[in-house]
Amino acid sequence: MRKILIANWKANPRTHAEAERLNTTVTNAAKKHKNVEIVLCMPFPWLTDISHKAKGPVRYGSQNMFWDEGPYTGEVSAGMLKNSKVEYAIIGHSERRRLLGETDEMVNKKVLAALRAGITPVLCIGETAEMHKEGMVATKRFIKNQLTKALRGVSSVNGHRSMVITYEPAWAISTVRGGSKNNADTPENALAMIRFMKSIPHSKFPILNSRFIYGGSVNGKNAKAFLQHREIEGALVGGASIRPAEFITMIKIASEL
Ligand code: PGA
Repeated sequence: MRKILIANWKANPRTHAEAERLNTTVTNAAKKHKNVEIVLCMPFPWLTDISHKAKGPVRYGSQNMFWDEGPYTGEVSAGMLKNSKVEYAIIGHSERRRLLGETDEMVNKKVLAALRAGITPVLCIGETAEMHKEGMVATKRFIKNQLTKALRGVSSVNGHRSMVITYEPAWAISTVRGGSKNNADTPENALAMIRFMKSIPHSKFPILNSRFIYGGSVNGKNAKAFLQHREIEGALVGGASIRPAEFITMIKIASEL
């Protein structure tokens, strides 16, 4: 099974020219290393221009989306994304939960809207640093609760059932404002959490085609340690995805597994 690398560019880069350059570099690498799926989730101002022009093999995703269309100032709907050749949407990223007050209920509405529109949600699930300190039992309870709430009603959605579920503990994210640090989880713990998460939706929700990946400080040095595990089906990559040479190294590593 091909691994999937999902790049989360966050609010980067600042210009369209830089976004195009990065997109071209990644596209060229993807043409060379075919045994990996690549999704670039970039800011809206660059996303739809680039996705409309793209001819493959890279696919495109947004970093957020709204659950409806109409009188919602500033929002972008799943249907608009679908009509712009955007195939994925990151939903429930911890930065949005923490900074913008995105709740489990909002995340759930977005997941359902994405599936109804035919967009594959890249659902982010993960505990905060405080929760992590409380230990494995409390963390698993938290993860189960967050995942269950995010997936409520999914079984009733007809049609599109493709989903990427990311175990991304908030404390493991490297890209902090003003610098970067490597806080990656251990591959063993990430694997244990992914196994735990896999046991939840498959027993309770008839979701087909869900893939489970890890996110949080994945880079050129540690990518293999995570991705070599069969059950870790890919990675959500923030900081390292906007460093072209490093991201290409990761593409190569993933395609050789
Ligand atoms: P990171 O970010 O790879 O810089 O830790 C991942 C993310 O926030 O999705």
